[in-house]
Amino acid sequence: LTRPAHAAGRFGFAPVEASTLDTITLPEGYNWHTVAVWGEPMWSDAPEFDHATRGSADSQVRAFGDNNDGMALFTRDGRYILAVNNEYTNRKVIWGNREEGKPADEDDILKGMLAHGVSVVEIARQDGKWSIVRDSAFNRRITPQTPMEITGPARGHDLMKTAADPAGVRALGTWNNCGNGRTPWGTYLTCEENFNGYFSSSEEIQDQKPVALPEGFARYGIGPKDWGYGWALVDERFDIARHPNEPNRAGHVVEIDPLDPASMPKKRTALGRFKHENAELVVANDGRVVVYLGDDERGEFIYRFVSDGKYVAGGDNADLLENGRLYVARFHDDGRGEWLELTPETTGMKSRAEICIHTRQAASAVGATTMDRPEWVAANPLKAEAYCCLTNNKNRAAKPNAGGDPTPVNGPNPRAANNYGQIVRWAPDNEDHTANTFSWDLFVMAGNPAVHTDAHAGSRNVTEENKFNSPDGLAFDSTGLVWIQTDGNYSSEGDFAGMGNNQMLIGDPASGDIRRFMVGPKECEVTGFAWTPDRRTVFIGIQHPGEKGNSHWPEGGDAVPRSAVIAIRRDDNGVIG
Ligand code: FEO
Ligand code: CA
Ligand code: CA
Repeated sequence: LTRPAHAAGRFGFAPVEASTLDTITLPEGYNWHTVAVWGEPMWSDAPEFDHATRGSADSQVRAFGDNNDGMALFTRDGRYILAVNNEYTNRKVIWGNREEGKPADEDDILKGMLAHGVSVVEIARQDGKWSIVRDSAFNRRITPQTPMEITGPARGHDLMKTAADPAGVRALGTWNNCGNGRTPWGTYLTCEENFNGYFSSSEEIQDQKPVALPEGFARYGIGPKDWGYGWALVDERFDIARHPNEPNRAGHVVEIDPLDPASMPKKRTALGRFKHENAELVVANDGRVVVYLGDDERGEFIYRFVSDGKYVAGGDNADLLENGRLYVARFHDDGRGEWLELTPETTGMKSRAEICIHTRQAASAVGATTMDRPEWVAANPLKAEAYCCLTNNKNRAAKPNAGGDPTPVNGPNPRAANNYGQIVRWAPDNEDHTANTFSWDLFVMAGNPAVHTDAHAGSRNVTEENKFNSPDGLAFDSTGLVWIQTDGNYSSEGDFAGMGNNQMLIGDPASGDIRRFMVGPKECEVTGFAWTPDRRTVFIGIQHPGEKGNSHWPEGGDAVPRSAVIAIRRDDNGVIG
């Protein structure tokens, strides 16, 4: 494989080297500071974060949530409002003051629950640094307890009805909010990903098998045991033996008005139910709204929603995501592909409601292409094309997730054992995001040219200088450069030798060049982006530093490691990129 010399090209910075240090590494001439940190009070009546106790349920519900992920920045009258997902919590960190990192009491479980959801915070820059404006009227915590309206085809369906909500129209809360989207009408989209890990069953387990799980639970990984959060112990709706329809009300995209703290979030069931990564929205040439959606699980799919209504600048766009058509991608090996619509006729399901609840099964029915874990999708603002990170697939040979399709090697997923991941991109025919056919190619196949000489060395735009694994976060800046964040193996050994901690790189779609811009602290992933309108600050998320116990970022010393949003700026106050 030949390696092109680095074109100075589009990049206004010198690449940074891989690093295993417990800090943020940036190119010369750039600096960073924390903006919002897990447990930081959002109101002045909340206590400062306590490193000994790591807070309580009461302090957490008034503080910035944990494990920040996707985010978006909104402005009003010169004020800046940041909406940030709080995906999950590391139990060994949040309960690290307890024996074996397990909850000691109900308050611990509630503290963990309330660390999830979304934090909406006003931020302001004073003395050169951005920070939370405490007591701002915009500040809001959205948690797994916040009432939400169920909208779209699944609203009111029998599978959405519960004892507490016999009409199936109002759910409580959102959790495991991974990537995000934002709409041109000023709302925030938060995407429910691994919602399954919070449910458990109070029924006996016989022969290691759950008792009579409802149809469709296996495909979503919903089973009798949760992942250790214990929520069913404090709130019985997480007990699937007593409330078997509750999981159907999770796994959706939720639309939030970040500028109206009294507004009720809306679950948009029309966008399908699966392990949503993010929601990348583009307005098509004819004004219809197109949302690209990845389902992050081994062997699952990439989806597209096309609204029935059209976006009108300044018009009433509030419910454009309530009704539309849902499609799933089929990639052909010859570089072409098509969007397959999910309808009762194509899927054999009884109704659109059922398709929007059992979306994975519907997509299997039409013959969608299994993918190597679709993470963020990003659309190029300067060209009709979209990119999706396929983070990795370490277990293709093993059985796919229960009930899923076989996952053979195929065009966009060309490596049998895929430790490194790749980024696929597609260009819709006629430069029209509503077109049902497209052409695709791989923007990059990650790899390690120091360890391999075959396909695992990566595509020719992967070099000793920029190598990385497991692309996850993805976004375009307004100049058309594509920013890539990683959530992968940070051992820097073996197959991953020399890659260092998780990192962020910037790619040029035209030349294919990729250059490393940032390295995160130990054991973190880098996830989430937001730019100020003047592009002199970029906000980036650092999630789960020290998830295995080996970081004290950001405070250092013996501090508890804490996820945080950071601001990156140039020393000369220049435009970033
Ligand atoms: Fe929450 Fe697929 O990352
Ligand atoms: Ca992710
Ligand atoms: Ca990931």
